[in-house]
Amino acid sequence: MPNIAIFASGAGSNAREIIRYFLHHSTIKVKLIVCNKAGAGVIDVSAAAGITCLMIEKEEFFRGDAYIPFLLENNIDMIVLAGFLWKIPMTLIKAFPHKIINIHPALLPVFGGKGMFGAKVHETVLQSGEKQSGITIHYVDEHYDHGQSIFQATCAIQTGETPESLAAKVHQLEHRHYPQIIEQLLNKKS
Ligand code: GRF
Repeated sequence: MPNIAIFASGAGSNAREIIRYFLHHSTIKVKLIVCNKAGAGVIDVSAAAGITCLMIEKEEFFRGDAYIPFLLENNIDMIVLAGFLWKIPMTLIKAFPHKIINIHPALLPVFGGKGMFGAKVHETVLQSGEKQSGITIHYVDEHYDHGQSIFQATCAIQTGETPESLAAKVHQLEHRHYPQIIEQLLNKKS
């Protein structure tokens, strides 16, 4: 039975949709939430779903000696990043090779990299004059927003589009596609 750990530190809307999607799934289970920010919305999301939420400190995250064994003991098959802002250390990538994925709220490889998160991404896309934006789901490597692309979906940018309205469209795409892509990847592995 494949187990997922979701790493998140924001509002947790993607975590909520992923949890909902797999709630009554016959084989795949969301086993753990890992969070690095006190007060993050995702903590309430995990509590409401009765899923263990592991809070993690920066120093420990980059050292990796305690929580990585914990992930392995919990038989985690895939780590799903959903609004987790720390760079993933090599120790974690090596412990979970080709098993860590991320969702980015724009079309990579252009609108990514260090500092490209939140409203900044959508502002940059709008300033560029692009006619469309979207989402990218990709494997995680040691660089920000850089690993092999798995899936992209697009949305049109309308005249008068604002960072807020674009963010809402992109969130809709994320919620629609991320759970299904996770399912497809885990089905392929098993
Ligand atoms: C999403 O837009 C995702 O693409 C990015 O962080 C945001 C998290 O949103 N990596 P939420 O916390 O899931 O609502």
